[in-house]
Amino acid sequence: MRLGFVGAGTIARAIVEGVMSSSLRPESIVISRRNEDIAQQLAAKYEQVHIGSTNQAVVDDSDMVFIAVRPQVVEQVLHELTFRQGQHVVSLVATLSAEKLRGWLGEGVCITQAVPLPFVENRQSVTAVFPPNAEVMSFFDALGTAVAVHSKAEFDLMGVASALMGLYFGLMEGVTDWLSDKGLPPEISRHYVVSLFASLSETATKSSDRPLSALRREYSTLGGINEQLFRDFSEMGGLVALKAALEKIHQRISGD
Ligand SMILES: NC(=O)c1ccc[n+]([C@@H]2O[C@H](COP(=O)([O-])OP(=O)(O)OC[C@H]3O[C@@H](n4cnc5c(N)ncnc54)[C@H](OP(=O)(O)O)[C@@H]3O)[C@@H](O)[C@H]2O)c1
Repeated sequence: MRLGFVGAGTIARAIVEGVMSSSLRPESIVISRRNEDIAQQLAAKYEQVHIGSTNQAVVDDSDMVFIAVRPQVVEQVLHELTFRQGQHVVSLVATLSAEKLRGWLGEGVCITQAVPLPFVENRQSVTAVFPPNAEVMSFFDALGTAVAVHSKAEFDLMGVASALMGLYFGLMEGVTDWLSDKGLPPEISRHYVVSLFASLSETATKSSDRPLSALRREYSTLGGINEQLFRDFSEMGGLVALKAALEKIHQRISGD
């Protein structure tokens, strides 16, 4: 299998790193010139990786091509490219619908959408794959766990969930900033909050058979400060704001 990446940015780099430490044995990996630094680093690090002279060369030298450019430039980039009949194109652009992609690339190309997370680098990403093409499923299974998605509606919703990464870190940032402003040394704030979140994530993972609402109640003593914080946060509109923000992402993803 020859892999290609149009767009050598954050997620392309993470996938290439994951592939190179996995059981996958691609014959070759060809990547775009951009980003120049990332492309050169990967090509220098791995003998299987080489840089395509143009995006068209990337397409021509690969069997499975990953589209890993930003949504703002994807239309322009793809309009300049010609794909072979039967060639496999895997789009990583969450805001781009398969219908639009099909309109640009034509009927003869095999199109799959996937939402890998940066944890592919350590082969620990859950990756939504739609439709669940067997080849793409086994590719992302080698980089963590591939989740078969059978409808655009479900795929869009998983795309919305994938937008939580910035908020997750932003929430920890907001809490540690507040603690530090109140006088707790920043390094202690960070260590405490990060450790707390890590333990909570581990607990949620280990308790997969229990509803999250049950965990929330279990970790909130009646009349205690955890119960109070969640209640105040909800009553002050925190959950409403969260759902409204998720709704906006959903509109952006599904409205394309
Ligand atoms: N990061 C994630 O966790 C993640 C996860 C799943 C899906 N995605 C999706 O994957 C796509 C890429 O995301 P990213 O985070 O990797 O973004 P990124 O780091 O900005 O990478 C995009 C790359 O595309 C390059 N590029 C721009 N114009 C190009 C062109 N004409 N031809 C070839 N390459 C070009 C950019 O090069 P320059 O730096 O030189 O501009 C940049 O290196 C996005 O659509 C995103 O939604 C990202």
